[in-house]
Amino acid sequence: METTLIILKPDAVQRGLMGAIISRFEQKGLQIVGAKLTQISPQLAATHYESHKGKPFYDGLVKFMTSSPVLVLAVRGIGAITIARGMMGATFGSKAAPGTIRGDFGVSNSFNLIHGSDSPEAAERELRLFFAAGEVIGWPRHGDAWVYDHSGGKPE
Ligand code: RTP
Ligand code: MG
Repeated sequence: METTLIILKPDAVQRGLMGAIISRFEQKGLQIVGAKLTQISPQLAATHYESHKGKPFYDGLVKFMTSSPVLVLAVRGIGAITIARGMMGATFGSKAAPGTIRGDFGVSNSFNLIHGSDSPEAAERELRLFFAAGEVIGWPRHGDAWVYDHSGGKPE
């Protein structure tokens, strides 16, 4: 099982798209194991996006991410990092394919609705940045027997 850090960015919260986006993850079969509405501090935004420091879009990105509350989610499943990235679509709303979150819900390149960790290392780092110990809850999901095939001994 993999857990990824998803952020529904300020535009998603302000536009009332939280429910629609969370529904997509739930409908896919991924499990929400952490959730928090929070306003990101400039310091936390800088740490989260430190790999982009110095790029032309960096200052605008930090300003955007701290401008209004976000919904931070921990999302779990087999291959959850890659699956979630695929569901998000390409970075720019103008380029993201229909059927993806960015492709279906937005047109802007910088107001692109959602962040998702892009590797297992990033996920581990980002989950620790946004969730304290005990805030990610590995709750047994009643429907898991119908989300994964357990007949081979391990979920598939
Ligand atoms: P994210 O980190 O937010 O999940 O997005 P991403 O992996 O798809 O894209 P990334 O390259 O990590 O860029 C982080 C965020 O910076 C903004 N951006 N603007 N104007 C530009 O050229 C540009 N490039 C990136 C986007 O908001 C992107 O999500
Ligand atoms: Mg990124």
